[in-house]
Amino acid sequence: MLGNFEYHNPTKLYFGDESLQYLNTELKNYGKNVMLVYGGGSIKKSGLYDEIVDILKENGKNIVEDSGVMPNPTVEKLNEGVKIARENNVDLILAVGGGSVCDYSKAVSVSVHCNDDPWEKYYIRFEEPDCKIVPVGCVLTMAGTGSEMNGGAVITNHETKQKIGHVFGDNVMPKFSILNPKYTMTLPKYQMCAGIYDIMNHICEQYFSGEDDNTSDYISEALMKSVIAASRIAKDDPNNYEARSNIMWTAAWALNTLVAKGKSTDWMVHMLGQSVGAYTDATHGMTLAAVSLPYYRYIMKYGLPKFKRFAVNVWDVDPAGKSDEQIAAEGLNAMESWMNELGLVMNISDLGATADMIEGIADGTIIMTGGYKVLDRDEIIGILKASLK
Ligand code: NZQ
Ligand code: ZN
Repeated sequence: MLGNFEYHNPTKLYFGDESLQYLNTELKNYGKNVMLVYGGGSIKKSGLYDEIVDILKENGKNIVEDSGVMPNPTVEKLNEGVKIARENNVDLILAVGGGSVCDYSKAVSVSVHCNDDPWEKYYIRFEEPDCKIVPVGCVLTMAGTGSEMNGGAVITNHETKQKIGHVFGDNVMPKFSILNPKYTMTLPKYQMCAGIYDIMNHICEQYFSGEDDNTSDYISEALMKSVIAASRIAKDDPNNYEARSNIMWTAAWALNTLVAKGKSTDWMVHMLGQSVGAYTDATHGMTLAAVSLPYYRYIMKYGLPKFKRFAVNVWDVDPAGKSDEQIAAEGLNAMESWMNELGLVMNISDLGATADMIEGIADGTIIMTGGYKVLDRDEIIGILKASLK
C-alpha cells in the first residue's frame, strides 16, 4: 500500500429502522433555530415530514423551512437558502432527503456567514471556508451519493452550463446522519437504480488506479459484491429490508473517504457525467451509467491488470485459457449485463444530449490526473460520441 494519509471521519451515523429517535439526542446539542431543508415533497407524501416536525417541536425548536431543493441543486436556489438562513440566524441545518438536499445544505452551511459570492468562492476559485460554518445534520431518504458521510457539495449553474462539486473537509461533513433503509422504499425504481449505479461507480472511480497491492482495493471489491448482490434482490423486491439496508450501508462506505486511502483517483466518469448533467439536468446516476462503458472500454488497455482483477474478483469471470484482454473485456461485459438488468440508461441521447452538444460537454469536462490515462480533449469527444445512441 502506497501513500501517506490521515483518516478521520467525524460524521456520527445512526443506522436502522429505529434510528429516527436519535434525532432527539442530537437536537440537544444545537440552538433553537433549525432550518428544515427538503426537496420537492416526497417526505410529505411518506409522512416523514410530520414525524420530523413533531420531534423538532417536542424539542422546543423554532422551525425555519426551506423546501423545493431540486435534484441537481442550482446556484439560484443556493443563494435563496443562504438568505433564509441569514435572516433567521439558524443554529442547525437539518437536511431531510437525498444527496441533493444534503449537498445543498452543506453549500448553504459554508456560505451563511461569508460575505463572498458562494459560487465564485467555492466553485470557481475553490477556496476553503474562512467563516463560521453552520452545523448540518441529515436524515437520508435516498441511498447513492454518500453525501450523508462526506464533505461533497455539488451545485449546478445553468447559466454557465457548469455542474461542479466542491469536496469540503471534515469541518463541513454532516455532524450526524440518520440512515433508515425503510425511508428509501418509497423511491421510484428509476431513482433507486440510479442510486445503485452511483454507489458502484464511486467505488470504481477509486478502484481503477494504481498498481500496488492496496487494502483499499480489497475493501472496494467486497463493497462492489455487496451492492451488486443487494441490487439484484431490490430490483424485484424493493421492500426487501435486508437488500435496502445493504445498499444504504455500501453507499456510505463507497464515498466517505475510506476506500480512497493510499490511492490516487481521477474521477473521470464523474467529470464526464457532471458535464452531461450540466447540459441535460439528467439524474446523476444515469449520467454516469451512460458514459461508463465507452470510457472504461477506452482506458482498459492502460490499466489492464486491474481490469483483469475486476473481472475475476468482482464478476467471477473464469480466466482459464483466456488472454488478459479477453478476461478484462468479459468483466466489462458482465458489468454491462448487470446495468441492463437494472434498466440503467446506457447512452447520453436518452438523457437528452444531442450531437451538437458534444463540443460544449467536452469543454465542460474537467480533465483530471491520477487514473490510468490522462484524457485529452479529442479522447473526451471520442468517448462522448461513443456514448450517443
Ligand atoms: O425532491 P423529492 O420530492 O424529495 O424527490 C427526490 C428527487 O426527485 C426523490 N426522492 C428522494 N428520496 C425519496 C424520493 N422519492 C421518493 N421516496 C424517497 N424516499 O429522488 C429524486 C432524486 O433525489 P436527489 O437527492 O437529487 O438524488 P441523489 O441522492 O442521487 O443526489 C443527486 C445529487 O448529489 C450529487 C449529484 O451530482 C446530484 O446533484 N452528488 C453528490 C456527491 C457527494 N456529496 O459526494 C457525490 C455524487 O457523485 C454526486 O455528484
Ligand atoms: Zn456520484
